[in-house]
Amino acid sequence: MPKTRSGPLLVAAPAFVLIAASFAASAQQPDRPLGLPPVPVPADNPQTPEKVKLGEKLFNDKRFSLTGEVSCSNCHDPNKAFTDSPLTTSEGINKLKGTRNAPTVVNAAYFASQFWDGRAQTLEDQALLPITNPVEMGLPNHDPVLEIVRTDPEYVAAFEQVFGKKGEEVTMREVTQAIAAFERTLIAGDSPFDRWYFGGDKSAMSEAAIRGFDVFLNKGRCVSCHTIEQDHALFTDNRFHNIGVGINRIQKDIPKLAPAFLKARSQGVDVDEKVLTDPRVSELGRFAITTSLDDLGAFKTSTLRNVAVTPPYMHDGSLKTLREVVEHYNNGGVSNPDDPVNDFLSGGIRPLNLTEQEINDLVAFLESLTSPRFAALQAQRMAMNPQACLVKPSRTTTAAAGAATAAGPAAATEGATP
Ligand code: HEC
Ligand code: HEC
Repeated sequence: MPKTRSGPLLVAAPAFVLIAASFAASAQQPDRPLGLPPVPVPADNPQTPEKVKLGEKLFNDKRFSLTGEVSCSNCHDPNKAFTDSPLTTSEGINKLKGTRNAPTVVNAAYFASQFWDGRAQTLEDQALLPITNPVEMGLPNHDPVLEIVRTDPEYVAAFEQVFGKKGEEVTMREVTQAIAAFERTLIAGDSPFDRWYFGGDKSAMSEAAIRGFDVFLNKGRCVSCHTIEQDHALFTDNRFHNIGVGINRIQKDIPKLAPAFLKARSQGVDVDEKVLTDPRVSELGRFAITTSLDDLGAFKTSTLRNVAVTPPYMHDGSLKTLREVVEHYNNGGVSNPDDPVNDFLSGGIRPLNLTEQEINDLVAFLESLTSPRFAALQAQRMAMNPQACLVKPSRTTTAAAGAATAAGPAAATEGATP
């Protein structure tokens, strides 16, 4: 084990001991996966196998919605790497559409805040909101949930066993603690990149992906926000940036839109409801939470782990493929070369002048971040839509592009080998 691990381990020791013990007991996660740090666990919500099991049941319970048809797992489907891919934006009760793309819950346990705009601090706080959001699970309040967990015999027994509470003692605090405990087991590392970079397995990544990693670090400057540490990589700085996605749709209206939102907010508008139901307010991004102009159009840096299996991309689902994402960055933060560069764009976003080969290589690198448990999904997705991945027919006829195409199939199959 590299020396550098002792630092983070010492700091996080109390929480880690608990989660390690529970994993050993439950066999939910045999060990901390390669490339990831210990899972942070709040002191007041220790992991236990029984709590995790209860949380999973709650996560899948469709009765916690107005129509009895929507649970957390409708939009965070285990068979789709805990997203609703390929939907652009999520569908809740009565097929109502929200304004945002559902991020995966996998590895969300590591984020310093939850949601694209960070409006919830913890997984526990986050879990309260979808239940009463009118375009998600649509309940008027949390009472119907409490009614079920206090009377359904299976829940009554489970809450008593896990929390030692029954009847009115069971509140949304216990419900959300159990859901969060389940989410803290949805951890996935050990990708080809992890095996190559942290594990020292020289054959774990394709040549194209290795070249792509160099672009990621240097010419692409991706690593400045999608960070990598000495002994692990979350690929997020847990901060918020305007990278030019969606903001152009409201740019002209900001002088009216922003003050109108602030006024509504001061009058007590439900921010969670507003951002998911009003597509223009949604684009205000982190500003809607902090009211700081620096945060206009800024969203949380996504983790890039398992990104190959969760299209489409960005908070609004507007970019369909990883290739489109890379082209967006290559154009300096505009998806359409004719669009203006946004006034509030992060200073880190500038045209990159990547060659065709560098673009292909960067995509190959992103495709090497898939964990073994999602490798089959990645293979399936690539088989269904070969055009969407790795190599698009090149617009240029340079030798470089030809070489990248030749490297394509080798890289494309790598995700399929566990
Ligand atoms: C109708 C679809 C839908 C349902 C149902 C739903 N979610 Fe989500 N979830 C989303 C969307 C969309 C977002 C992003 C919203 C945003 O950032 O504004 C999200 C965000 C999240 C996040 C934040 C992840 C991150 O990277 O920041 C977590 C955690 C999460 N949901 C868990 C849950 C839980 C737990 C439930 C059930 C109590 C649930 N979701 C129900 C669609 C859904
Ligand atoms: C200035 C910080 C910053 C830099 C530099 C940056 N990103 Fe991002 N990245 C973000 C943010 C913020 C988001 C989410 C933006 C949104 O949804 O509006 C994001 C989203 C993404 C996504 C979509 C993830 C998803 O699940 O939807 C991918 C893929 C991605 N970035 C790859 C890259 C690559 C490749 C590079 C280098 C060429 C790069 N990023 C450079 C901040 C950055």
